[in-house]
Amino acid sequence: MLLKVEGLRKTYSRGEQEVEALKGVTLEIGRGQFASIMGPSGSGKSTLLHLLGGLDRPSAGAVLLDGQRLDEYSDDELSAFRRRKLGFIFQFFNLIPTLSAAENVALPRLLDGEPMAKILSKATELLDRMGLKTRMNHRPDQLSGGEMQRVAIARALVTDPVLILADEPTGNLDSATGNGVLELLERLCREQGQTIVMVTHDLAAATYGTRLIRLRDGHVESDGPPPVKSSH
Ligand SMILES: Nc1ncnc2c1ncn2[C@@H]1O[C@H](COP(=O)(O)OP(=O)(O)OP(=O)(O)O)[C@@H](O)[C@H]1O
Ligand SMILES: [Mg+2]
Repeated sequence: MLLKVEGLRKTYSRGEQEVEALKGVTLEIGRGQFASIMGPSGSGKSTLLHLLGGLDRPSAGAVLLDGQRLDEYSDDELSAFRRRKLGFIFQFFNLIPTLSAAENVALPRLLDGEPMAKILSKATELLDRMGLKTRMNHRPDQLSGGEMQRVAIARALVTDPVLILADEPTGNLDSATGNGVLELLERLCREQGQTIVMVTHDLAAATYGTRLIRLRDGHVESDGPPPVKSSH
């Protein structure tokens, strides 16, 4: 099993008040799955995604990736693990405004100490695959929203991650552009066996995945195949 989540709990303290964002989540995600996570606002979706990605630590329970418990890593080991093994895609793209598309894609490996010359062909190939061959040297402010998100996807793939985590990747895109991004993710899963976990508010987005996990009030409410994509 690629990803195992066991009895995961997360309690936030807000002054006097404690908020139980996750109240014991247990699930397994196999290699090659494209799982969507849905649920009402405040149900714990982003909290779960952050814990899966080692961006935050649980109050109880464990996350195991490839059999390795994330809580056994030190903070430094955890950030190296995130950089090398995971790819993150966010709603607001999180590209560096002063860097070109190719430099943004290369960034995770530059931060890991690899020289640009060594990464460039991979970054170029990924941007080409995302349909951005002619946009390599554009800065984010010279790109459309859909192009920026495709740069972000290329950046998420540059380390050949074992797992891609996406939080509302189409939340800031119009539906046609968003569908293009979802088709790219679906293809990565189908053609390359890429494992993807995506938080979304949009049931239509979840139809691109292979599995739909619904959270409610910090619990898994349901877990099964997503509805079938409507054909237009
Ligand atoms: N850093 C924090 N400090 C305190 N409480 C938090 C913190 N982050 C989240 N919470 C609370 O934990 C609960 C779950 O939050 P979370 O962000 O996981 O929800 P979500 O399902 O992603 O919601 P949305 O759909 O609005 O993004 C909410 O009640 C939220 O207010
Ligand atoms: Mg959220």
